[in-house]
Amino acid sequence: MIEKLEQIKQAAISEIANANSSKDLEELEIKYFGKKSELSGILKSISTLSDEEKRTVGPAVNSLKNELMSSIESRKKEVVSRELDAKLKEEYIDPTIDLSKEEVGHLHPVTQLRYKLEDIFKSAGFFVYDGPEIETDFFNFEALNIAKNHPARDMQDTFYIKDDVVLRTQTSSCQVRALKEFGAPIKVVVPGRVYRNEASDATHDFIFNQIEGLVVDENVSIANFLATLDTLIKKIFGENVNVRLRPGYFPFVEPGFELDISCLVCGGKKCPACKHTGWLELGGAGMIHPNVLKAADIDPEIYSGFAFGFGVDRMMMQKYKIDDIRWSTSGDLRFVKQF
Ligand code: DAH
Repeated sequence: MIEKLEQIKQAAISEIANANSSKDLEELEIKYFGKKSELSGILKSISTLSDEEKRTVGPAVNSLKNELMSSIESRKKEVVSRELDAKLKEEYIDPTIDLSKEEVGHLHPVTQLRYKLEDIFKSAGFFVYDGPEIETDFFNFEALNIAKNHPARDMQDTFYIKDDVVLRTQTSSCQVRALKEFGAPIKVVVPGRVYRNEASDATHDFIFNQIEGLVVDENVSIANFLATLDTLIKKIFGENVNVRLRPGYFPFVEPGFELDISCLVCGGKKCPACKHTGWLELGGAGMIHPNVLKAADIDPEIYSGFAFGFGVDRMMMQKYKIDDIRWSTSGDLRFVKQF
């Protein structure tokens, strides 16, 4: 029996010395100390030995076990530290590598302007709301007092997806959405993309961006409307800009206005950029029609308010003196990289 232990010892020592990975060593641990190992077998059979043999074999097995365990442990230390070194070498990150050639993108000028507008409105107590670009006929038209087959629908050439589903033609689609969701009083702006099925030219595209504003509360008057818009537009374009309202027809406001600002290029003195009028059309606005409030289950006897919708791409064109709106969606890097 003692001879047998000696054989096991020799075999184990050479296998431990040849083990080259922590996995090899784990396998050896199972082989020599596991339930099915030779040493376990010997320990189990001790009861069948003579008393004299019992006295020598028991301690010999235990001391062999201890010896093998400590040599596996010390081999493990060597192997693990070698494995760690290899891993560190492989995963080494060189912080001195020059990455300056990697190009970093930036926000599109329309997005930059949109964020600026959001900040200005937020500073005046508005919150920013978002709605779907694929919209129901109800929110895009009907809730805004534009019945089916009403001639006012012709004002907006529409992409229909189904009979009652459209690509939204205006961010006004979010007026009744926001009113239904949050109720009154409310001060909200909705920036976002809108779609019109129209031939594009220098000042029209079939995709463009608007920012919608909505204020509903008790006792909101035209005086509040004028003062708010005048203040905010001066914040956006500077103190020297003048605001002009012309009567305009939008079925969801009464009275309704077209809102112009004095041309930023010539300061209102008339130039090609303002088609020699001194003014530029920014969008529409007005006092919210009672039918719109009713569509949102808000009592028009108690609440009133105003709404406005501006073209963000047109603002961007003014700000950077861009001559064609189609640059905005062109994806042309020569354009985008200038901002
Ligand atoms: N949604 C209109 C358009 O796209 C613009 C507009 C007009 C928005 C009057 C308004 C408004 O909120 O009150 O032509």
